[in-house]
Amino acid sequence: MILTPAWVGNPAPAANTFLRTVNLTGKKVLIVALGESGENLATSSHLEQMARARGGQVIGVHHIHGLNSSGKAGPSATVEELEKAGQRLADVLQEPHNQED
Ligand SMILES: Cc1cc2nc3c(=O)[nH]c(=O)nc-3n(C[C@H](O)[C@H](O)[C@H](O)COP(=O)(O)O)c2cc1C
Repeated sequence: MILTPAWVGNPAPAANTFLRTVNLTGKKVLIVALGESGENLATSSHLEQMARARGGQVIGVHHIHGLNSSGKAGPSATVEELEKAGQRLADVLQEPHNQED
């Protein structure tokens, strides 16, 4: 699972660095973009492209509404919402077809 906050419509720099160097050949990859606006399609699309370029097989793309750190977006996600989002991801990872072969 590659999970990163969106920063200015892009993955955070640490995620970019990781995806420029990691070898994901034969790996199933779940992409998760977290941001104050809830859905960050540009961020998840960059992550998908980079994961594929490193040989990964993208098995899913998720968006999570996180904290409003800029003060410009709507309300932050609540603890309950974040817990539910985490539980959904844990459930997805446990689906047999998403396990490593
Ligand atoms: C420099 C910076 C840029 C950000 N850009 C975006 C953005 O483009 N879209 C978005 O939805 N959230 C953006 N955010 C908000 C974070 O993605 C969001 O607050 C995230 O939930 C915070 O997670 P963290 O506290 O672990 O960093 C930005 C935050 C920072 C600090």
